[in-house]
Amino acid sequence: MSPGLAFAFSDWGPGTASSVAPRVDLIFWTILGVSAVVVGGLAFANLYFLIRYRRNSPAPRPPLRIKTAWLESAWITATTVIFLGFFFWGASVYLFAERPPAGALTIAVTGRQWMWDIRHENGRREFNELHVPLGEDVRLVLTSEDVIHSFFVPAFRLKQDAVPGRRVSAWFRATKSGTYHIFCAEYCGTAHSGMVGDVVVLPPARYAEWLERGNAMEDLTQRGRRLFLRYNCSGCHDQPAAVHAPVLTELYGAMVPTSDGRMLRADDAYLRDSILWPQKDVVAGYEPLMPSFQNVIPESDLLDLIAYLKSLPGRQPPPAGPGESSRPLPP
Ligand code: CUA
Repeated sequence: MSPGLAFAFSDWGPGTASSVAPRVDLIFWTILGVSAVVVGGLAFANLYFLIRYRRNSPAPRPPLRIKTAWLESAWITATTVIFLGFFFWGASVYLFAERPPAGALTIAVTGRQWMWDIRHENGRREFNELHVPLGEDVRLVLTSEDVIHSFFVPAFRLKQDAVPGRRVSAWFRATKSGTYHIFCAEYCGTAHSGMVGDVVVLPPARYAEWLERGNAMEDLTQRGRRLFLRYNCSGCHDQPAAVHAPVLTELYGAMVPTSDGRMLRADDAYLRDSILWPQKDVVAGYEPLMPSFQNVIPESDLLDLIAYLKSLPGRQPPPAGPGESSRPLPP
């Protein structure tokens, strides 16, 4: 069965505008169809027997003579195979939907009561609107500044929670130009129902043009450098400095030894944790001098700082993926 198969029911709903949508629809309608057949069959058999074998009906009631073992094993086997089949099929669609492909265009999305704050790689920022190129893989890195929100684009069959203190990836490839609804799908307070927006899918050339128009703004990396100075990270981490602090060049993607003998990969989550909870993973050979920046640096500034740290000359970036969100937060 081809997932790209134009499925008859696909346009019967919120529209179908992403690569995962036909796959989700196909499995949804198949399970619904099979369930309908089972429910219909049971209801029909029930009614039939109810009427035929009602009390005092003339229908014959001889003792059961056939052996039913083969019949029972047949239906147990058939239903097990069919429903396990649904499980594996569903799991494969889920894995496809959950793993952002390498080389996807990354866009940062921050949920906040009550708006979506969206930033593109070149720093172009927009609120409650998300412009994306048609036919290209787009990876969203979601976080929240206050409570749990959920980024929901029905036409893309995409729904992902934005959780404070975490960076979670979601991805899609838009397959149709147009404008599609964004909803917040997690109750987040008074104006939750107003936390809506639009995804605008543009042909790649027009997306590039659109992106350029916002280029007058400083990009994430430049803003990150400015914040690096403003929060006085540079006082210790720029070389030469009076304080003995780890150098941050060639850091991103490298393995870092900690003072208690562990080795950690310096990925996004590590950088984030090291800013918010510097005492958690002290680098071997250094004193735990750095103060915590928890409740000092807001989420949107953290994104810029991390973008800046990643822009410093370094190793190969670690692969993106679900692992990014799997790191537990300290209490
Ligand atoms: Cu944000 Cu509901």
